[in-house]
Amino acid sequence: MQTINQLDPLRHQISVLRAEIGRIALVPTMGALHGGHIALVEEARRHADAVVVSIFVNPRQFGPNEDLDAYPRTMERDAEMLRAAGVNILWAPDAAVMYPAGFATKVHVDGPSRGFCGGTRPGHFDGVALVVAKLFNQVQPDVALFGEKDFQQLAVIRQMARDLDFVLEILGVPIIRDADGLALSSRNAYLTADERAAALALPHALGRAAEEIRAGSDVAQTLAHAEADILTAGFAQVDYFALADAVTLEELQHFDGRPARLLAAAKMGKTRLIDNLAI
Ligand code: PAF
Repeated sequence: MQTINQLDPLRHQISVLRAEIGRIALVPTMGALHGGHIALVEEARRHADAVVVSIFVNPRQFGPNEDLDAYPRTMERDAEMLRAAGVNILWAPDAAVMYPAGFATKVHVDGPSRGFCGGTRPGHFDGVALVVAKLFNQVQPDVALFGEKDFQQLAVIRQMARDLDFVLEILGVPIIRDADGLALSSRNAYLTADERAAALALPHALGRAAEEIRAGSDVAQTLAHAEADILTAGFAQVDYFALADAVTLEELQHFDGRPARLLAAAKMGKTRLIDNLAI
């Protein structure tokens, strides 16, 4: 595995990979890798001949009161994991390479950015769309893979790629969970042992609500009960617990059998956790 930090050598190595190996997959990450990221790499290897993983903690997707400085940075360990997983290139630019002095461009994706994390984290998806558009141009992958844990992010990226005519396939990879059901996340590292145990209320509430909605229960009542349950279990705040169309992410008041997704974000202590489940 080659670790590359500058654009010119990246472009050179990408052209070598394309000529000598073939189809290229990109797995964009912000590091602090866990089993969920490795599952993305493994899936990437099934869809391409060479895999590029990017690690860049993107300042543009953090709000002023968010945890940019505290975000876990574990580059050496991450590189070891990626090498063991058979990654070809680790693309690890710093902020000066990604956003050189004088950088002035913004990307705003309407539609699926509205509401949910877009409502509680203003500007977050603009930052995501901007960096992902840049990563697509830098790496020029045939396929890019994103975890379904960030379900709204995946919808925003699909919309952006469609609207801006990026020629690549975008694949969503199902959520990887710990044995007890908690979705893997780099942010789980912030949880104390007690918080980690109480956080299980989130996937449990999603599972119960999904069953009830499938069985025909009133959506508003089911969501209100789920929200109350996770607050009782020890979550400090629920940002949202909602049902949405699985493609447009339009919020739904009723379930009519079309693919839908339960989406939730809640704070356990100071840690904001997100999770979702297909209906
Ligand atoms: O999901 C993430 O880790 C980030 O939002 C992404 C897609 C790498 C963009 O910074």
